[in-house]
Amino acid sequence: MGTPVDPVPEVIRRALADASDAPGYPLTAGTPALRAAIAAWVSRACGAGVDGLGVLPTIGSKELVAWLPTLLGIGPGDVVVVPSVAYPTYEDGARLAGATVVRTDSLTSLGPTPRVRLVWVNSPGNPTGRVLPAAHLRKVVDWARERGAVVASDECYLPLGWSADPVSVLSPQVSGGSYAGVLAVHSLSKRSNLAGYRAGFVAGDPALVAELLKVRKHAGMIVPAPVQAAMVAALGDERHAEEQRERYRARREVLAAAFTGAGFTVEHSEAGLYLWLTRGEDCWQTVDWLARRGILVAAGVFYGPTAGQHVRVALTESDEHIAGVAARLA
Ligand SMILES: Cc1ncc(COP(=O)(O)O)c(C=O)c1O
Repeated sequence: MGTPVDPVPEVIRRALADASDAPGYPLTAGTPALRAAIAAWVSRACGAGVDGLGVLPTIGSKELVAWLPTLLGIGPGDVVVVPSVAYPTYEDGARLAGATVVRTDSLTSLGPTPRVRLVWVNSPGNPTGRVLPAAHLRKVVDWARERGAVVASDECYLPLGWSADPVSVLSPQVSGGSYAGVLAVHSLSKRSNLAGYRAGFVAGDPALVAELLKVRKHAGMIVPAPVQAAMVAALGDERHAEEQRERYRARREVLAAAFTGAGFTVEHSEAGLYLWLTRGEDCWQTVDWLARRGILVAAGVFYGPTAGQHVRVALTESDEHIAGVAARLA
């Protein structure tokens, strides 16, 4: 269903333990070591320059996704655009702020009037595994800048490209070398098996990040000090991330072959943590068919009204369970 099952790498657990004597309040902005580690990782993984880049740790990325509209002062009368098939928290966050949600993948379909304040993009996408090309992201950024809207790019699956190379909104080909109006949202939950630590960050427009910091400081949205130390260790180590990526790659190959062999069509899924599957029938029929074989998947309708014939299969199961799924589908 999507929660990591592999162990937390030793290098990270050691850093957490070594930082456990933490009687004082942590810095909302992150320690200087964490801020430097985030900037260095963004530079490597997103191909982004770090001059003028704002960075801020978050308590996992879900809380930021849920509270971003509120933190940005978005409210009733404002419009938040979310992908047509999407991680549900984009819509939840807009509703918490009292804003209006529009689901679309094409900004031109919006027409001239709506008061768009925030546009969410998610590449590689959950649940579809779709990768948005740089030119598409660039158009979204240009469109938003012309209207004074913010683009929030949820990039928590960026390191998991399989048959496509995901591009960050912070890369120069998308941002044009300026971070104005863009925020990239990242998470260590999947890259480093840290979902239980709650470790994420946001990077981008320094003025927006400063505003987020100001509100979050007063609201007590602070990453615990031992987790900050663990994040420094995680971000500085690519070896465990590469090992984890290879585990997912192998599981993906087994699952893709097994589901294809059982008559499923795999759509998108060129990156990320999921296979997006259909049998051309109502998703609940597919969920039921698989459940009878002891296989649990997520129904497409959870992610949007147009996804009623799809199911989402996560790569986050042990090798033993993945082999079991293949055997049951054979
Ligand atoms: C697209 C997307 N964004 C954000 C999150 C939140 O992750 P976390 O809060 O663990 O960083 C998830 C979790 O599954 C996700 O799929």
